[in-house]
Amino acid sequence: MAMETRKYENGMMVFDTCFLKQKEMASEFVWPSDYLTETANEDLNEPLIDLNDFAKGDKEAMARACELVKKACMKHGFFQVTNHGIDPLLIQAAYDEMNPIFGLPVDVKLKAKRQRCSLQGYSGGHANRFSTNLQWKEAYDFEYSNQGSDSHIVEHFKSAFGDKLDKHTGEVYQRYCDAMKGLSEVIMEVLAMSLGLGRLYFKEYFKNGGGIMKCNFYPRCEFSNLTLGTGPHSDPIGVTILHQDQVGGLEVSIDNKWFAVTPRPEAFVINIGDTFEALTNGKYKSCLHRALVNREKERRSLVYFIIPSKDKTVKPPEELLGEKEAREYPDFKWPDLITFTQYHYRPDRPDTHTLR
Ligand code: SIN
Ligand code: FE2
Repeated sequence: MAMETRKYENGMMVFDTCFLKQKEMASEFVWPSDYLTETANEDLNEPLIDLNDFAKGDKEAMARACELVKKACMKHGFFQVTNHGIDPLLIQAAYDEMNPIFGLPVDVKLKAKRQRCSLQGYSGGHANRFSTNLQWKEAYDFEYSNQGSDSHIVEHFKSAFGDKLDKHTGEVYQRYCDAMKGLSEVIMEVLAMSLGLGRLYFKEYFKNGGGIMKCNFYPRCEFSNLTLGTGPHSDPIGVTILHQDQVGGLEVSIDNKWFAVTPRPEAFVINIGDTFEALTNGKYKSCLHRALVNREKERRSLVYFIIPSKDKTVKPPEELLGEKEAREYPDFKWPDLITFTQYHYRPDRPDTHTLR
């Protein structure tokens, strides 16, 4: 007989280590077979863009890199960057600080649960956004503001968890997000140049925006072939800067095939999101991706989403529109899109693109 593997608290199923001991997968976590399609034999490792070429101002190397970025973004919306200048010790510290967060007692985490209209808080496989196709993970999200105080992340953690979490956790994520903000400016320059726009166009556009940080923790899963850590989706935001640990699991869809992204400790993955796709009138494709879980090892990823400020209209610059080119998407503002995404999420179609 199957062990009782579900635990309910306040009417919600709670992600609990008892899942690790189960003999049978809880049906809520079992995904339909068309979502569990196999991974292609070869990994996706290109393009790999050396940001040092941009820092040095090496014109030829920059032009070559811009061509590669353009080709990749027009096809599938994914590339990676190296020599980004982010301290590896800071990346490691950001991974380490997930332990005190996800190690908190379930009731403490649930008190900080992400509410339906919020971009911040704790979520897990039990999140009540949908009750089938549950993702095998826990996540913690928080907002970063380009104009916030030097310690607004510390303040966020203080108000979410009080004394249950050491101040150090917030301090580490404050530093990590500050570093991501710096990197996001460089990425925006690369993207603008790759599109033939003025180098500072997107840097200016996103200047008063900010970020959302998501820490993903995927426990080891006995039935990893039946479930997904993160279902197929594109990110609704501008651009994503992602770091995955050495376990691997991130996959990108190209021509209806899933390609694994080999973990590279020295690289950040850059994904185009829906908002950026709209900003380029559909020239750059929002990246369809998913994350698998692992039978042997738990996995972590650090995800920083770049978002425009709330009052900024999302529309492509004139220079990008050919004379007779029709607009692919109506004007919108980022909060409209995220509200739409949260209210119109289709549990039966987790790969639904928010704009298409
Ligand atoms: C995500 O898309 O939010 C997560 C992807 C990953 O964990 O690699
Ligand atoms: Fe994503």
